[in-house]
Amino acid sequence: MKFFIDTANLNDIAEAQALGVLDGVTTNPSLMAKEGITGAENILAHYKKICDLVEGDVSAEVISTDFEGMVREGEALAALHPQIVVKLPLIADGIKACKYFSDKGIRTNVTLVFSPGQALLAAKAGATYVSPFIGRLDDISTDGLNLISEIRLIYDNYGFQTQILAASVRHTMHVIDCAKLGSDVMTGPLSAIKGLLKHPLTDSGLAQFLLDYQKGNK
Ligand code: E4P
Repeated sequence: MKFFIDTANLNDIAEAQALGVLDGVTTNPSLMAKEGITGAENILAHYKKICDLVEGDVSAEVISTDFEGMVREGEALAALHPQIVVKLPLIADGIKACKYFSDKGIRTNVTLVFSPGQALLAAKAGATYVSPFIGRLDDISTDGLNLISEIRLIYDNYGFQTQILAASVRHTMHVIDCAKLGSDVMTGPLSAIKGLLKHPLTDSGLAQFLLDYQKGNK
């Protein structure tokens, strides 16, 4: 399973990259705003900085909601850097734009996916990635992980190549459950990735090993 980090924070991206397990980055307009990145030029410059920090795919989201605007924005984003994946919302014009980009060989991430039918549409339109938001479903008492299973089943039934990118991952159990369910990718905060390191038996075992070494090497 690929690990993407879901942030526009350069320090968090650099820390995940340094750990050696990072395969890419996802961003969205809210995450850019959170870092105080505003204005088209600054946003494009920030995407370039992210691409320079990591080796993998970097999802950059359009803000247009009409086909022509999405195509215009998406083409500019894709031209910015070979690592950029154009992120499109799952609305009718987003699906049309996804098909347009897919026919041109430009990679896409269809976002804001909350149902298996939406994921089917994204795959039919040739999306590179589909982003089901599991945390936001959990937030409204709906089983987000079940959506991952349903999409996995549908995609496997027909051999769709679209990769399932479990998004809105909030914690380590989401990461582990997505891995069990065969999600191709997960994107979450740095805390969800670093949380996987933690086990008290690792800490106490290491402390004992070091203590025993010191005793034997006085
Ligand atoms: C996906 O690409 C989104 O950026 C993201 O995962 C949304 O997560 P949130 O629900 O925690 O905002």
